[in-house]
Amino acid sequence: MNTLNFIRQFVVHPGMTGAIAASSSGLAELITDEADLSHAEAVVEFGPGSGVFTERILRKLSPDATFFAMEVNGDFVQATQARCPDVTVYQDSAIHTAKYLKRQGHDACDCVLCGLPWAAFPETLQNELLATIQTVLRPGGRFLTFAYLQGLVLPAGLRFRKKLKATFDRVTTTRTVWRNVPPAFVYCAVK
Ligand SMILES: C[S@@+](CC[C@H](N)C(=O)[O-])C[C@H]1O[C@@H](n2cnc3c(N)ncnc32)[C@H](O)[C@@H]1O
Repeated sequence: MNTLNFIRQFVVHPGMTGAIAASSSGLAELITDEADLSHAEAVVEFGPGSGVFTERILRKLSPDATFFAMEVNGDFVQATQARCPDVTVYQDSAIHTAKYLKRQGHDACDCVLCGLPWAAFPETLQNELLATIQTVLRPGGRFLTFAYLQGLVLPAGLRFRKKLKATFDRVTTTRTVWRNVPPAFVYCAVK
């Protein structure tokens, strides 16, 4: 998907897309490095958008691992599948991940790698999604998501940070990727 089409998705679905551009390759590299994918048996991606993280997940994942993505927007489902033809993308809310994990033969996964725009979400949706992640992650499993730097001064971004720390045993942050538009960092949480 090109930049213009990504902007179009933001204009049509601002609260769902939450960004005017796809994440940079630098951010994709950082978030997938932090996920420790080579040891994972089951990994789920939330909100792949145009597939920039998906492409790197596939490169770093063991060939035997189970992997699929959850994406609500049909245009983004197509964009991810065009970029990564062999990947399974379910067009559904990430809230329903447990159903698809079971379909793939797993009760829990090792890692949720997430591109959702948390700071654009209302509190109820943030709560439902965090509860879903707690349900689908195995104990010791990792949850990786990114946040824009400016989100640290916005109420919804601050609320998400607080909820993340209240939900997980351990939460750390990475360095900032300044070349991302806008600059962003990664939250790494362990159940
Ligand atoms: C900011 S874009 C990120 C896309 C990509 N991961 C990246 O970093 O470039 C957020 C994506 O999350 C998707 N999304 C929003 N709410 C969702 C939900 N409840 N379940 C699954 N995907 C969702 C949007 O449609 C969009 O593709």
